[in-house]
Amino acid sequence: MLSLLESCKSTKIVSAPIVDSDMVVPITAFQIKKDSAKDFKKYLVVQNDILQYPICIYRFDEVNYEALLMKCTHQGAELQVFGDKLQCPAHGSEFNAHGKVESGPANISLRTFPVTISGNQLKISLK
Ligand code: FES
Repeated sequence: MLSLLESCKSTKIVSAPIVDSDMVVPITAFQIKKDSAKDFKKYLVVQNDILQYPICIYRFDEVNYEALLMKCTHQGAELQVFGDKLQCPAHGSEFNAHGKVESGPANISLRTFPVTISGNQLKISLK
């Protein structure tokens, strides 16, 4: 039980609700300190039980975000995030923070989702 709790602590996966066809993520989830709006995480990995793969949301600045499905376009393995890159543990493909292939064998960009900002929430359209 203890080790389970510890492994949860080291991952950054946030579970986010889906309302209609939008995944809703509070912008405050990017804040490194709860009450400071100065330091933000570069990315957040969000998950919902109905999704087969998590979604990685990169934050470039206040109004620019990119939401990427963490599914390798080569053979569908789940990607891992390393800073501003996503890597595939299966055969080593790499994608940048906009989902573009940086090294193969994958040769198709990742699926991206439109992100809109509504008040203090991000809405990731899953349609
Ligand atoms: S499944 Fe990702 S590189 Fe093959």
